[in-house]
Amino acid sequence: MRIFSGIRPTGDIHLGNYLGAIKQWVDLQNQAEPIFCVVDMHAVTTPYDPKKLQGQVFELAIDYLAAGLDPDKCILFVQSHVKEHCELAWLLGTVTPMGELKRMTQFKDKSKQHPEYVNAGLFNYPVLMAADILLYKTDAVPIGKDQEQHVELTRAICRYFNNQFGPTLKEPKSMVPEAGAKIMSLTEPDKKMSKTGNPKGCIGVFEEPESIAKKIASAVTDTGREIKFDVKRKPGIANLLTINSLASQKPIEQLEAEFSGKSYSEFKKATAQALIDYLEPLRKKRKELLTREVYVNDILRKGASKSQTIASQTMREVKSAMGLEK
Ligand code: AMP
Ligand code: TRP
Repeated sequence: MRIFSGIRPTGDIHLGNYLGAIKQWVDLQNQAEPIFCVVDMHAVTTPYDPKKLQGQVFELAIDYLAAGLDPDKCILFVQSHVKEHCELAWLLGTVTPMGELKRMTQFKDKSKQHPEYVNAGLFNYPVLMAADILLYKTDAVPIGKDQEQHVELTRAICRYFNNQFGPTLKEPKSMVPEAGAKIMSLTEPDKKMSKTGNPKGCIGVFEEPESIAKKIASAVTDTGREIKFDVKRKPGIANLLTINSLASQKPIEQLEAEFSGKSYSEFKKATAQALIDYLEPLRKKRKELLTREVYVNDILRKGASKSQTIASQTMREVKSAMGLEK
């Protein structure tokens, strides 16, 4: 089974990225044929600093490794190193209806966030994502809930292509984790945790323990006293229960029983500690990797070469189906 996924190099990865996406990748690498990508071509669709981009790409590659991706078990590479992604995106654009792109929630959200920077690249973002996935004849795409709509569109683009040019591409499925698919902001528990929201609501995977403890201590809860998993009435507590459960590997019901009759502040302290302990090995590994630039770049170079072998084969098939090549 071929797996493909990616994250944009737009700054430090947060708990949502880790619990929603990367944690699944690490679990999957033993049973599947996984390809993981630093999607730098997607990062340039929203405002960014060109001087910082190279560093962010390198750091995200390190984050992948620190989180437990093993270069002997999966292919790790940078999107812009394999030119076929953009080539296929152009061709897929010719079978993608504009109306479908206009419906994309992420496009609408990002256009609102940066009204001065609504470019055609941002509009076509999901076509490039479809190219990323279809280029490798991917079976499954492990992602957080917010990316499901893009994978649905990828499936539609695949069908449009195959209907028009004959069976060439493979229709992928999305893979959303049962728990952690949508980690919410600590300050606004009705919004997803994100790099662009209130920084106090977002916990970095490699953040200092003191800072994690502070953010959890000031997380927004409710005026009640009960530690119960009730997303509608107690979204803040439900979010902390999800985080605690994933970090401590205790089921939510067990946590509810353990903290029954205890105060919110005791529960928050325990949650912070569970999370700090859970993330500590990742933080250590990342520090070590920061000094191993040659090793990391070598992994990325080899990854690009392996990816390109698969990608160029698909491109030959696509071009032949479209009449661009014999
Ligand atoms: P991004 O940072 O938007 O490039 O997201 C990278 C990956 O993390 C995607 O698979 C997202 O679905 C996932 N992700 C982002 N934010 C969250 C969140 N708050 N909860 C769960 N998954 C998330
Ligand atoms: N759009 C994804 C996000 O914002 C990142 C992404 C780009 C991706 N290409 C992909 C995810 C291919 C999975 C597969 O998070």
